[in-house]
Amino acid sequence: MMNEAALGNPIDRVEGRLKVTGKAKYSAEFPAENMCYALGVNSTIAKGRITAIDTTEAEQQEGVLKVITYKNVNRLQTLGNDRPPFTLTTVMPIFQDREIHYYGQYVACVVAETFEQAQYARRLVKVSYEKDTPDILWDAHREKAYKPDDNADFSRGDMEAGMQEADVTVEATYTTPIEVQQPMELHAALVSWEGDKVKMFASQQILDESCTAIADTFRIPKENVQIISSYVGGGFGSKLRIHEHVIMAAMAARMLERPVKIVLTRQQMFTNVGMRQFDEQKMRLGAKTNGELTALAHHTLSHCATQLQYYEACGNVSKMLYKTPNNAITHRLIPLNIQCPNSMRAPGEATGSFALESAMDELAWKLKMDPIDFRIKNDTQIDQGAGKPFSSRLLNESLRIGAEKFGWHQRKSQPRTNRQGNWLIGHGVSGASRRSPYRETSAKVIAELKNGNVWATVQMDGTDIGTGTYTILTQTASEYLNIPAENITVALGDTDYPVTPGSGGSWGAASYSNGVRVACQNLMKELQSKSGTSSSNGGLQALMSENGLSSYEAMGTAAPSEAFDKHSVFSFGANFAEVWVDKDTGMFRIKRMVNVGAAGKILNPKTAFGQIIGGLTMGAGMAIAEKADIEPTHGNFITRSLADYHVPVNLDLANIDVVFLPEEDKIANEMGVKGIGELGITSVAASIANAIFNATGQRFRDLPITPDKVLTTPLEPGVA
Ligand code: MOS
Repeated sequence: MMNEAALGNPIDRVEGRLKVTGKAKYSAEFPAENMCYALGVNSTIAKGRITAIDTTEAEQQEGVLKVITYKNVNRLQTLGNDRPPFTLTTVMPIFQDREIHYYGQYVACVVAETFEQAQYARRLVKVSYEKDTPDILWDAHREKAYKPDDNADFSRGDMEAGMQEADVTVEATYTTPIEVQQPMELHAALVSWEGDKVKMFASQQILDESCTAIADTFRIPKENVQIISSYVGGGFGSKLRIHEHVIMAAMAARMLERPVKIVLTRQQMFTNVGMRQFDEQKMRLGAKTNGELTALAHHTLSHCATQLQYYEACGNVSKMLYKTPNNAITHRLIPLNIQCPNSMRAPGEATGSFALESAMDELAWKLKMDPIDFRIKNDTQIDQGAGKPFSSRLLNESLRIGAEKFGWHQRKSQPRTNRQGNWLIGHGVSGASRRSPYRETSAKVIAELKNGNVWATVQMDGTDIGTGTYTILTQTASEYLNIPAENITVALGDTDYPVTPGSGGSWGAASYSNGVRVACQNLMKELQSKSGTSSSNGGLQALMSENGLSSYEAMGTAAPSEAFDKHSVFSFGANFAEVWVDKDTGMFRIKRMVNVGAAGKILNPKTAFGQIIGGLTMGAGMAIAEKADIEPTHGNFITRSLADYHVPVNLDLANIDVVFLPEEDKIANEMGVKGIGELGITSVAASIANAIFNATGQRFRDLPITPDKVLTTPLEPGVA
């Protein structure tokens, strides 16, 4: 039987029709009887304490049920004062004392019969503060930088000796701004309690750890928490963990003994659900004239909240991507009165690869070497940072095949020599790597015989955050049960289902698909042994009838193997960009992008393509548009809407070509799948910056690159 839904085929999204007809229900769309609405009130100072809160007027408004503040709230399990490292179960404290740590921190929660009533009354809560001078400008607080507890500095060989040995060196500092995730779907939750049990529809990426977070916070058993997140309209890291609004809604629902719905405003999406932190990355590289790297250092200085440690590990990419005998990596954090940063798509790699791949381009230019040849020269099949071989690594192939597809040979190596009228034309390249984690995952499969047909339902608490999870798991079940996709239902996003690691860190596809594979294989094996046959010739339907079963279910769990642990498992790729720069105005256009990805078995090229073009768009946004600005004396975000926080639109973007290299990495997992969601954004910004250098002869080490910077940045030495 030809299976059209077989793995590797580009079938349409199985939930596509539900989504375009509005039938796919997102968290905020669920109704509940006797429901009311909560909205947070945000602080208007960045540091200090509340001296008084007057809620009288707000409480007198029609429909207002309650105003929650530090004065009338239950004490919850909360962070201590020792600024612990961030985990996926961390919940920031809310209403537990009067202290203000950042601008926009929730100081009250208004609950009303309608959203509009809550919105109106929210403005009538009067908060008085004792105001301290906040620490906002990271540059003024460099001396406060500390080493995060969970990140030892890394070094190999002798960095200084390696620099001495080098014929050519590059020392440069790269900065990337605060960026915000801004998924289309606003953060939302609908919470109801029944005694000590809580149920919530909440837009979250990872449900099991979110349950732990809720259970810990309210000091209830984890089995008393149910989270449902059937559809998630994008997360990009902002929905990895439970944010304060979920706790706020749960508090309100418990106090009022009514279901409470909370939906953040778009402004609160800029101030209360995390962001990518500002990073200053200092790179030092040395190489011999033949192009061999002798030394590579990557030092990152960033900032974090005053109450918690979080950092994106920018330097990790410099531990593993290129071969070098001498290597030094550090990360330091400055505590500031700004909301706590969190993971944003490819945390560490997206920003770290901008610095590394820009610096590699700078060094290639100084060496007068082709930047592709330079990277290939320093290839390694061993992860020197971890001291393990890579499970598979097609970086050189990605660069070579991409070069062919892109027409790299037409590139002029000397900047400002490729011109058309007023346009300076440039071509840039960058290598990409992103860790491809794989975590223990369980699934249940239920087979049913109805009207002579066999149907199967797959259940797991994994989520589809827009990536195509429903579709690839339908394909997986179709393949391993050998029944048509039309007869399969995939049910996701409910903590009543078997536990998965959730969607994050690019581990979703590999983990989920292998979990479903094992459950399907177990189901087939169990039925075969019941039938006393080891062949599945008759197929699932025959096995069910032979055994007189109308329904049968099996569980399965997939977990990393010993071989996985003995290897470094990464996805690899390469990005190519052509950029045209107007020599008089500094205006520029990204004309073409080519992305090559070696990410193991591609389960569905259509959904995978969607992941990569989404990543390229976000990478282009990083290069040319995205930047959140903070007012330096008061500490509030200036960019608090999509009118002033810019993301690329269609006109900003290029013709995009995506190539997936055929690869099945059986060390990564039995199905040979690696991650793609975060690979797509990784090193895109560097390919664009390098293309602009090739066009103009100017280096842009501070993102985003805007026309005003093009007009004011000097030419590099050696460019005329
Ligand atoms: Mo990702 S930043 O782990 O959603």
